Amino acid sequence: MASSKSDRLAESLAADFTLPPGLTDEAPDPEKLLFNGEEPPAFPEGNIFPLEWRVETPKLEELYEKSRDPGWSPERLPWDTLDVDSMSWDERYAVAYWFALLSVFDASGPAVFARAMIHTYETHEEAPIRKCFFAITRDEHNHEEVCQRAIQTMVPNGPLDFEPRTVLGKLARHNIKWYYHNGARYWTGYNKAVSRYPLPILFTSFLFGEVASSTLFSSMHEATTIPVFKEAFRRIAQDEARHRAICMFVLKKLLPALTDEEKSTITRQLRAGFVFLSGILYEPPEGEFWELPAIFRPAHRLLEEKAREAGLGVLSVEKREENWREAVLKMKGVIEPYGIAFPALPEIGVDGETVAFDPNEEFVAVF
Ligand SMILES: [Fe+2]
Ligand SMILES: [Fe+2]
Repeated sequence: MASSKSDRLAESLAADFTLPPGLTDEAPDPEKLLFNGEEPPAFPEGNIFPLEWRVETPKLEELYEKSRDPGWSPERLPWDTLDVDSMSWDERYAVAYWFALLSVFDASGPAVFARAMIHTYETHEEAPIRKCFFAITRDEHNHEEVCQRAIQTMVPNGPLDFEPRTVLGKLARHNIKWYYHNGARYWTGYNKAVSRYPLPILFTSFLFGEVASSTLFSSMHEATTIPVFKEAFRRIAQDEARHRAICMFVLKKLLPALTDEEKSTITRQLRAGFVFLSGILYEPPEGEFWELPAIFRPAHRLLEEKAREAGLGVLSVEKREENWREAVLKMKGVIEPYGIAFPALPEIGVDGETVAFDPNEEFVAVF
């Protein structure tokens, strides 16, 4: 018997309720349900579903655990020690210029790795690979933030939306626009390449980028005399070394099973990666990929010289060549045992297979 207003309401709702035809109000029989059950349509290829959490490489799980807390954060770096008022406008433009060039590689990182992370879901990689790519995306956002803070502390509204007070400032803005033009072309190609190439090819290129970035940041950490950048470069170098380790573990699993065609694609991709990454590790090589006007290179050298004077730690061209060669030889040592030919890189005196650059072949590069 209804004892309250809510009980009476429940009773009247139950009285109005009639079961659909064919169903009784008795409890359903589980066996009958199972007998009548049907499978959903097949999952479309390249879809992120069905989701599962396989672990094939426990070491990657460990690396992910270490990545959860990178141990630093861009906003906690000692930015207050950066005394921009004691710097000339040209020094400020030059330092911001270098970070703007870096941003083509490092501030594109979040989008580049987020795209790669989605790809690891689409190709149903084991869970720790997906997790590691998530962690790298997070780290790269910190690296992007360092570019942002460095540029905007040096030049408010930089890298582009400012009115230069000096000729060098004008040259910096001019060159940055051209680098971003090339960054945009890289991104268009990368987007196509990520879904086109199988995982071993992608990861070899990823490893090359991480070898390059860890080399760059550890050498600049040693060379800079500006405290906030010394700390930033140290932290970023640590992150990049972790990314390098992740790529190495994935590749150890993938490289032994390559086809001959995949091997020669890797050789070409490494040549293309070298050309692109040289844009920050060394100098953008002429005649392949980079579209730069005649004044770019002389202006670039003036700006680098000024950034060096300001204490940023930009190495001399000779020192960069040596560093880049060392890093590339490490990469060569990793992949040659798997029967993959290394491309010739005459720009830095590395022998190998001569590879013609094909402007229509999209390439993968990360940082
Ligand atoms: Fe990075
Ligand atoms: Fe990285």
